[in-house]
Amino acid sequence: MPAYAIIGGQWGDEGKGKVVDFLSEGAHIVARFSGGNNAGHTVVTDRGEFKFHLIPSGVLWPHVTGIIGNGVVVDPDALLEEISGLQAQSVDMSRLLVSDRAHVIMPYHVALDHLEEQARGEGAIGTTGKGIGPAYMDKAARVGIRMGDLLDEKGLLSSLGFILEQKNTLITRLYGGAPFSLEELYERCREWGRSLESFIRPAGPVLQEALAKKQRLLLEGAQGSMLDLDHGTYPYVTSSSSTIGGACTGLGISPKHIQEVIGIYKAYTTRVGSGALPTELKDEIGEAIRERAWEYGTTTGRPRRCGWFDAVAARYSATLNGMTSAVLTRLDVLDGFSPLKICVAYRLNGKVTDCFPGSASALEACEPVYEEFPGWDRPTAGARHISELPQGAVNFVRRIEELLGCPLSMVSTGPDREETIILKPIL
Ligand code: GDP
Ligand code: IMO
Ligand code: MG
Repeated sequence: MPAYAIIGGQWGDEGKGKVVDFLSEGAHIVARFSGGNNAGHTVVTDRGEFKFHLIPSGVLWPHVTGIIGNGVVVDPDALLEEISGLQAQSVDMSRLLVSDRAHVIMPYHVALDHLEEQARGEGAIGTTGKGIGPAYMDKAARVGIRMGDLLDEKGLLSSLGFILEQKNTLITRLYGGAPFSLEELYERCREWGRSLESFIRPAGPVLQEALAKKQRLLLEGAQGSMLDLDHGTYPYVTSSSSTIGGACTGLGISPKHIQEVIGIYKAYTTRVGSGALPTELKDEIGEAIRERAWEYGTTTGRPRRCGWFDAVAARYSATLNGMTSAVLTRLDVLDGFSPLKICVAYRLNGKVTDCFPGSASALEACEPVYEEFPGWDRPTAGARHISELPQGAVNFVRRIEELLGCPLSMVSTGPDREETIILKPIL
């Protein structure tokens, strides 16, 4: 049972990229299973800083095969740009594989993402504008183009002709936007097919063979559990399954192979885009965290909303995913802040509850109930062993572990690989 899933426990940007890179030293395959280039995963090594959007964050290790699974939606231009950017940073891309079943984000998906957001007005979701929602809509509606289709020029022309008529009607009649030309789009698809042909393959057999050989697979989650289409803060969510179920459907592997589910949490909370965030700090403390931690989106550059650690949401996602352990990142960001707070319950309609509500309006009405902690007197930044942490930080970390209800396996104290404390070896 050699698959290890890395899942965002909050609203994304928890530091999944750093943890995936760290654990990839001991993995054979690192595979993305959901989302698309709405994700932005940053890895810092002695070779510099790397930003991943579609390509798995484990590919910096020369022995790792990177797989973009069937559950991912792929913008071919974004993928080509990422491949050449990584090659320019001397990263070998010859072991990258893109599932022929992954759906293509077409230019009309990107256009529709923007037009739909404009139409929502005040109720806008605050999407990344990368065409994610419209691409998954077409997948579910069974009118999507898949990566493998880019290699079948004849078939592509006929399906594109049918789909584009629908899309152009929608774009021009409903939204007053500009139509797409079939000839130009078809030509672009053919170019994508030619440029990406060597990467596009069935991923299932590669994964199954690796599992049969008991090789280690790292399943790299994107987004966070609270952005999951079914279990997140709907409708302010993304359009894919960022929780553990998505790892099975998004790669075509059985749950019986998943040995560990590792939840990634940062020591506070951030969110980009709209939707309730009960612990949000709309004051100078939130601003100070944002500036200290440079909490600006990797993909869109938008400021991330910052707040205290929300243990109600965190325990909900730990339970939902059956997390076997958790990693706490960005502890160092809290150095110097005092007091610190953890939200341990919500007050909703005059009652105290530790249940995470299912509706956006109920979450909006929740007020956090906090436990306070004194800050610590020495920095945690760069610590590599638990004994290097001040007692105040140890108390804070252990309280989060208790509230999560699953053991912490690692604590991260800086963006670099080395700035990591191992509490319980994972693989
Ligand atoms: P992801 O989307 O979950 O991979 O997270 P992002 O890469 O979008 O955002 C996390 C940011 O925090 C990145 O800039 C990382 O380099 C950085 N980071 C990760 N772990 C730590 C940590 O422990 N401390 C600090 N200061 N930065 C960290
Ligand atoms: P990583 O993998 C943080 C958010 C968007 C928006 C909502 C829907 O880096 O953690 P979409 O474009 O997916 O339709 O937008 O989801 N979102 C993320 N927020 N980190 C991400 O990815 C995100 N991917 C999507 O900001 O609120
Ligand atoms: Mg990110």
